[in-house]
Amino acid sequence: MLGDLTGKTALVTGAGSGIGRGIALMLAAQNASVAVTDVDEARASEVADEVPGTTMARQLDVTDAAAAQRVVDSIVSTWGALDILVNNAGVGSAANRTVGADREEDWDVTFAINVKGTVHCCDAVIPHMRERRSGKIITIASMAGHAGRRSTGAYAASKAAVLRYSKGLAATLAPDNINVNVICPGAVWTRFQEAGALARQKSDPSLAGQNTEQIFEAQYQSVIPLGRPQTPEDIGKMAAFLTSEDACNVTGQCIHVDGGVILRD
Ligand SMILES: NC(=O)c1ccc[n+]([C@@H]2O[C@H](COP(=O)([O-])OP(=O)(O)OC[C@H]3O[C@@H](n4cnc5c(N)ncnc54)[C@H](O)[C@@H]3O)[C@@H](O)[C@H]2O)c1
Repeated sequence: MLGDLTGKTALVTGAGSGIGRGIALMLAAQNASVAVTDVDEARASEVADEVPGTTMARQLDVTDAAAAQRVVDSIVSTWGALDILVNNAGVGSAANRTVGADREEDWDVTFAINVKGTVHCCDAVIPHMRERRSGKIITIASMAGHAGRRSTGAYAASKAAVLRYSKGLAATLAPDNINVNVICPGAVWTRFQEAGALARQKSDPSLAGQNTEQIFEAQYQSVIPLGRPQTPEDIGKMAAFLTSEDACNVTGQCIHVDGGVILRD
């Protein structure tokens, strides 16, 4: 057992695919009831159907603060309480779009979803968690939020922003017995990475004809000290531990589930 979540209820954003789906499955495997939410309602429903135990599917665009509050209220009225929030929904910015005509929109969209979306969901759950003097909040950031490597523009800045926001929130909410932590995944094969591999293929003629998963693996294998990519389940296992009572004295931390990528020069 990673950390028993029996009797706990969880809301996962962006859970209609990839890492969010992996987190929803792992929380449910530890017996949590999971609200699978996503901007894409059909994907949220598909994942909720796959997740064992008590689930609900809800359409939630995290850029809409009022919608986040409505979803939280509906979970509380259905299940009586909300114990866990996982802020997973996120988008990548076009890697080299740090200059150019569409730069402004790229920054706006990336910050609206990755940063303000996280804040909206935290704002929606905090009063309820404070009243109960209990709660666990996890935000999915990225190694990109730490590293100063080749341009990842708005994306890296957005992940650094949620890291700093989460640390401040951990200090603010500690007196209310609410734990706030961050998980930084390394390289996980998802739609997000598929889009990145397609973009690399478009800009590099030598990659023409290669399969996108191979492009992803070739990009990361040499820079991951443990020599293998991570999986959505790896991130889900860490989320299950951090949201369990086994981690009740862990707060304000950023845990890298990245095969050691953060160690590279
Ligand atoms: N895949 C990786 O290698 C990797 C590495 C580090 C961090 N991350 C982070 O992990 C998180 C999940 O990414 P993923 O790789 O699973 O990507 P993904 O594209 O497979 O999943 C992202 C999900 O978020 C949803 N989403 C997008 N905009 C939304 C919005 N406005 N409101 C609610 N949901 C929305 C999408 O519909 C999708 O289901 C993101 O925050 C991403 O930045 C991913």
